[in-house]
Amino acid sequence: MEQAQTKRIVLGITGGIAAYKAAELARLLVKQNIEVQVAMTEAATHFITPATMQALTGNPVLVNQWQDDKGMAHIQTSRVADAIVIAPATADFIAKLANGLANDLLSSLCLARDCPLLVAPAMNRQMWANAATQRNVQQLADDGVMLLGPASGAQACGEEGMGRMVEAEELARDIVAALRNPALSPTLSRPRERELSGVRVLITAGPTYEAIDAVRGITNRSSGKMGYAIAQAAVEMGAEVLLVSGPTSLTKPLGVQVVNVTSAAEMFEAVKQQVANADIFIGVAAVADYRVAQPSEQKIKKSDAALTLELIPNPDILAYVASLPRPPFCVGFAAESEKLREHAAAKRKKKNIPLLAANLAQNAIGSDDNELVLFDAAGEHVLPRADKLVLARALLRHAAVLYKKGSK
Ligand code: C5P
Repeated sequence: MEQAQTKRIVLGITGGIAAYKAAELARLLVKQNIEVQVAMTEAATHFITPATMQALTGNPVLVNQWQDDKGMAHIQTSRVADAIVIAPATADFIAKLANGLANDLLSSLCLARDCPLLVAPAMNRQMWANAATQRNVQQLADDGVMLLGPASGAQACGEEGMGRMVEAEELARDIVAALRNPALSPTLSRPRERELSGVRVLITAGPTYEAIDAVRGITNRSSGKMGYAIAQAAVEMGAEVLLVSGPTSLTKPLGVQVVNVTSAAEMFEAVKQQVANADIFIGVAAVADYRVAQPSEQKIKKSDAALTLELIPNPDILAYVASLPRPPFCVGFAAESEKLREHAAAKRKKKNIPLLAANLAQNAIGSDDNELVLFDAAGEHVLPRADKLVLARALLRHAAVLYKKGSK
């Protein structure tokens, strides 16, 4: 994660078992140079003590609206905050937020805010699925609240399903991204609906490495971060994801199947083998355009003479997939160093793909952030600068809508 400038957040903790994870979240945020003011409901103090949260943040914890000797803690505290994050948010607290109730310090703080509100729900799966909770969550989304989760998996009660709080590390990442760009609120939300449930997504990511000899090769500066972020976002949305990855130092995202390859030829082979099982193909890899015609098996010895390497073109994997008789829904990427719009729109037509995401190469390579312009049959859509995972979610939502419409 990149370092954020000093920002202040109010971390609101409500009374659910996931409250213990708020300690780790506070620690991660403080490590990111974020000033954390904790406010807890009375119920939350039964799960984790204010002393723990005070020790981790270095700030006295607010619990009781009557304890503040200057009064008006709810106004002062919310005025100086860059964001309020409720983690965990119980079904009860979400219901309060949705209805604008303010009968304790934390709910008053939320009502008095003039900053973004981020909510990480945590509750039993049945409570999450209940029509009342779903109505309340929809109300929060309509009110511009950013929803961070919930996740699916094992629950404290022994059941399995939607309702777990998103892990602290992922929450910290979303919060840092939101603080960097609060204007992005709607696209920041983690997917609530599994819009790609059962959809098979094949992704290429990273650079390729084209051997010159036994120890040298030609590659490029792609880190693979955008492709890996798209793989993670697709899993969050319920897709079955296969990632064909060139050489990167990234950790495999949870729930993603990875096939590791080195050269463009190997990437092409892997894609050819898998493409019949894909509903959506997303070519994010920075595939080398050329390879050495005859790589040497031995290390080439240095000499004073000039060395000429013959380069021959690599197959265009995306163009191949797009030209199949029954192609999956294809999404391409274009990294341009100038005239982004002109080149990208032309590339979408040339490759005959329904959706192309373009970025300026100098903005994107190696960075945790990016900004994208999406091109489709309807025109262009700008996704402003944000963390690559945030952009990945927004891009996939856009792709999911077009895929379901059967766009060409
Ligand atoms: O033509 P250009 O290389 O700029 O196109 C970029 C898009 O095409 C990306 O989606 C990239 O993954 C894909 N591509 C490919 N195989 C190649 C070259 C590019 O799949 N040999």
